[in-house]
Amino acid sequence: MSFLSETLSRVKPSPTIAMTAKAAELKAAGRDVIGLSAGEPDFDTPQNIKDAAVAAIAAGKTKYTAPDGIPELKQAVCDKMKRDHGLNYTPAQVSVGTGGKQTLYNALMATLNPGDEVVIPAPYWVSYPDMVLLAGGTPVIAQTSLQTNFKLTADQLEAAITPKTKWFIFNSPSNPTGAGYSKAELKALTDVLMRHPHVWVMTDDMYEHLAYDGFEFCTPAQVEPALYERTLTCNGVSKAYAMTGWRIGYAAGPEKLIAAMRKVQSQSTSNPCSVSQWAAVEALNGTQAFLAPNNVTFKRRRDLVVSMLSEIEGISCPVPEGAFYVYPSIAGLIGKTTPAGKLIETDEDFATALLEEADVAVVFGAAFGLSPNFRVSYATSDAALEEACRRIQSFCASLT
Ligand SMILES: Cc1ncc(COP(=O)(O)O)c(C=O)c1O
Repeated sequence: MSFLSETLSRVKPSPTIAMTAKAAELKAAGRDVIGLSAGEPDFDTPQNIKDAAVAAIAAGKTKYTAPDGIPELKQAVCDKMKRDHGLNYTPAQVSVGTGGKQTLYNALMATLNPGDEVVIPAPYWVSYPDMVLLAGGTPVIAQTSLQTNFKLTADQLEAAITPKTKWFIFNSPSNPTGAGYSKAELKALTDVLMRHPHVWVMTDDMYEHLAYDGFEFCTPAQVEPALYERTLTCNGVSKAYAMTGWRIGYAAGPEKLIAAMRKVQSQSTSNPCSVSQWAAVEALNGTQAFLAPNNVTFKRRRDLVVSMLSEIEGISCPVPEGAFYVYPSIAGLIGKTTPAGKLIETDEDFATALLEEADVAVVFGAAFGLSPNFRVSYATSDAALEEACRRIQSFCASLT
């Protein structure tokens, strides 16, 4: 009898965390590694949010809370949904968890039975398929392509849906590609979903605020109000508010689903950190003034990375609408050999050689389900990005 569970044997550890750890290991050993693999902003959490946390501690708000969030934060989420998307939710339709990750996981745990399928467009955020597997469901991967800038088409979605489909997971702007769906592109997908009333929508709007060149974010229940009854709108404060360590995410959806998610959370972790919840109230209710200047910085970095990588023969790098990632293709480099004599057969070979021979850490595309590509996170200083891109340029030029 195996000690570890069969479910766990189907799941792999997060490759992004593994790559970041490998880069940290080399750095600790004295190597001048530039890490472009971590998915978190290099900005500090805004001061007003930190102050709200300090005030919460001083006021003794340090005890257990309701398992899926304090009423004040649930109300702040309702207000945000109304203000930003015109969507009406009551606090009973809101769940707050320990990061966006936990709310997504709770929803899958609360709904999936063996045999249930979940459609996930690739490239995907690494955790979606593994969370589905942990919850006992079956991920169904719908491949996109470079030709559509990694956006799923209506035909591709239609082809992936079966009578067993329970959820469609949607993520725009996307991790790992940065691709953001316009209203028309999203409407093409919601039209497909309207023809399949048994399919629910789990939309992960984590990168909502990180959008450039006038891109207008939209979320499925806003684009197709008839989907409201079967949509879970997920979001969190981690990325836009530079609060990755505070661990607060939230979701809004039908009350029955939210109650089921509460049951999962109340028997596993209970409430997210009380102090972080008060900080998140300030993040949502307080000034949003820092978002625009942060986006100016992110856009400048995106443009720097896209232009430097696009100069490389063998790499093609679309310009993404949002998030802080680019996802270049290395199709033109497959089959080449590195100065150390390593043959590049896959994007994992490329990323490994780039780290070992050029001291730049990126994440290989296979981790996100679409190859041959790699993901660059440009949430780091302009100087580090410029140097990293220079190293990538000379590494690629040295391939034979
Ligand atoms: C698309 C996407 N969703 C959710 C998350 C999880 O966010 P959190 O740190 O709030 O759990 C991430 C984090 O990398 C992400 O990229």
